[in-house]
Amino acid sequence: MARISIAPMVDITDRHFRYFCRLLTKKAILYTEMITSSAIIYGDRNKILDFDPVEKPIALQIAGYDKKEMAEAVKIAEDWDYDEINVNLGCPSDRVSGNQMGATLMAYPELVAEIIYAMKRETNKPITVKHRIGIDGTNVLPKDLPKVVLDKYEDLERFVKIIAETGVNHFIIHARIAILEGLSPKENREVPPLRYDEVYRIKKNFPHLFIEINGGIKTINSIKDHLRHVDGVMLGRVAYENPFLLSEVDRFYDNGKVNNVSRREIIEELINYVKKLGEDDKRGYHAIKNTIGLFHNKRGSRIWRQLISPPWEAGYGAKEILERALDLLPEDVLDERPRII
Ligand SMILES: Cc1cc2nc3c(=O)[nH]c(=O)nc-3n(C[C@H](O)[C@H](O)[C@H](O)COP(=O)(O)O)c2cc1C
Repeated sequence: MARISIAPMVDITDRHFRYFCRLLTKKAILYTEMITSSAIIYGDRNKILDFDPVEKPIALQIAGYDKKEMAEAVKIAEDWDYDEINVNLGCPSDRVSGNQMGATLMAYPELVAEIIYAMKRETNKPITVKHRIGIDGTNVLPKDLPKVVLDKYEDLERFVKIIAETGVNHFIIHARIAILEGLSPKENREVPPLRYDEVYRIKKNFPHLFIEINGGIKTINSIKDHLRHVDGVMLGRVAYENPFLLSEVDRFYDNGKVNNVSRREIIEELINYVKKLGEDDKRGYHAIKNTIGLFHNKRGSRIWRQLISPPWEAGYGAKEILERALDLLPEDVLDERPRII
């Protein structure tokens, strides 16, 4: 069975955005933002880990490099009903890889395997990994040591093989390398070229593994194309740039179909949602700010973007902003529905 997922994205995939995504897709699995193991251990757990049951299926993404901490974080998260635990092995940020987390860990697959074994002792939930096809450089080695470059298909294959020996059988692969010296995280999502063929090749050489592809996938047709080669597709930026696309992705599941929903219905649901949160403007804004792409490429998209971007007109809270949108946006766009196939 194919699977579609919405990628972990810091500052985007918080619980409000996930709730919004769930109005659009009933089946795609939603990922939390990356959460470090120490945030789970030392932070405000309820704030960090709580989610609404309607968000399910939901995966918790954890970043860390210390196996004891990673195991403890998993143990703590057992009290929440996550469907999957995902290990971040792809983030290029200094803040993360400088601490030997994220993409830097691709240089140390044996250490990753130890981390995974430790995590597995604390949970029966599926543990998955999200990584790049390779790395160029790490942030942790002393400068006088040779730079670690794992940029060839064979390097990727070796990495997958070692991780698969732990029993992990689900790999989410962002089809570009991470350049860990000199590029910002944003550049690292744009500059290294996409090399989908290498992900397809992993599926061919490890047919028993569930391989999910990620990176630059923005249309229903390209999802369809990728699913001819791999088992799943993870959507990142398109989920906030053009979220209405998500209403069509359930068709990729067995017996799935498009979610016959309109933007008007989504906005009405959001009004109910923010009412439940309370009338606090700031919180309300936070709850809807990532819906900014709902009218992508449609008449009214500017009105929508202006309405939900600060500074808000004095006195309006999220509920009023959404109600105003229903008054101001073109009726035909509000009532448009996905193509039914
Ligand atoms: C704003 C933003 C935040 C991100 N945060 C994370 C993260 O927390 N964990 C992670 O594994 N990847 C993170 N990513 C990477 C995405 O999950 C995804 O791999 C990447 O954007 C490529 O997919 P796309 O081309 O479909 O956007 C982030 C990406 C963006 C744009």
